[in-house]
Amino acid sequence: MGPGDLDQALCGMDIPFDPNVLVGLRGGDDAGVYRISEELALVQTVDFFTPIVDDPRTFGQVAAANSLSDVYAMGGRPITAMNIVCFPAKKLGLEPLREILRGGLDTLKEAGVALLGGHTVEDAEPKYGLSVTGLIHPHRILTKAGLKEGDRIVLTKPLGTGVISTALKGRVASPSACDAMVRSMRTLNRAASEAALEAGAVACTDVTGFGLLGHMMEMAKASGMRVRLDTTRIPLLEGARDCAAMGTVPGGTRANRSFFSPRVEGEDRMDPVMLDLLYDPQTSGGLLIAVPQERVELLEDALQRRGVITAANIALVEGPKQGGKIALNA
Ligand code: CO
Ligand code: CO
Ligand code: CO
Repeated sequence: MGPGDLDQALCGMDIPFDPNVLVGLRGGDDAGVYRISEELALVQTVDFFTPIVDDPRTFGQVAAANSLSDVYAMGGRPITAMNIVCFPAKKLGLEPLREILRGGLDTLKEAGVALLGGHTVEDAEPKYGLSVTGLIHPHRILTKAGLKEGDRIVLTKPLGTGVISTALKGRVASPSACDAMVRSMRTLNRAASEAALEAGAVACTDVTGFGLLGHMMEMAKASGMRVRLDTTRIPLLEGARDCAAMGTVPGGTRANRSFFSPRVEGEDRMDPVMLDLLYDPQTSGGLLIAVPQERVELLEDALQRRGVITAANIALVEGPKQGGKIALNA
C-alpha cells in the first residue's frame, strides 16, 4: 500500500460521530485517541510487516519498537500490547516464530509494556507486529496539526533504513551499516517522546513508510503551514549515502516521490542521492518534534539528557502562506 491508498479505500464511508473520539480516522494521525474521562484517554494503534532483517529475534525487537512508536508520537505512554502474527509454521517450524516473539517481548520489557495476548494465522510469508494501547491526558495530545509560524522541527533519528535494508537483501550492505541500522531501529522513541513533552512540544509524528518528506508533509498539510527543510542538517545512518549512491533504493521511494513531490519546492537543485534519502521509507524511524523557536534549546537539552544524541534541528515553519508545502534548502 502506498501513500493515499488507505484514504481512497475509506473514502465515502459513513463513520459515525462519537464525541469521545478525540483523534480518529479523519485526521490521519499516528494513533487514535478515545476519551475515558476528563483526565484520561486511550491511545490505540496497530502495525505489522514482513521481516527486514534475517535474524528472527532482531526482527521481533524492531517490529515491536516500530509498533510502540505511534503511541510515543502522540505523546502517550504505552501500557499493553497484543501480538499479531502471520507465519508459515508448517514449512519453517515453530523455532523461528518463538525467536520473533522473544524479540518482541525483549522490547516490551524495556518499554514497561504488558503483553496481554495475540492472534496467529498460517501464512506463506511471515509478518509480525503488535496492537498497542497507551494512556494520555486529553489536553496533552500531540498531533500533526499543531505547527505554528516560527516553530522549529527536530528529527530524533538518522535516515537510511530503507536503502540499507535493500542493500542487505542484495547482500551488498557493509556490516557496519547493518549494525547502525539495527541499533537505530531497535531504539525506542520513548526518550524522544518524554523530551518532547518536557519541552512543551506543539506537534509530533514519527518517520516511517512515507519517508522524511512524506511525514513532514503530513504535518505541513494538517497544520496548513509551509515548512522550510534545511537538507544540509539531516543526520544519516552510517553507510546510508553509499547504499543510495549504489542505487539500492526500495520501491517505496519512487511511490513516495510521485505522491508528495508536487508539493515540494526546490527538488531540481538537490543532489539526486540526497533526494532519494529524503523519500526513503523508514522502519522504526525517529520522531519529528515541533517546538516554538524559544524552546528549541530546552528540547535539545531534554533529548541529550535522555541519550538521544543524533537529534537535529532541521526545519522552520515559515507560515500559512502557501500552506501544506515544503521548500528545500540544499
Ligand atoms: Co506513525
Ligand atoms: Co502506524
Ligand atoms: Co484469535
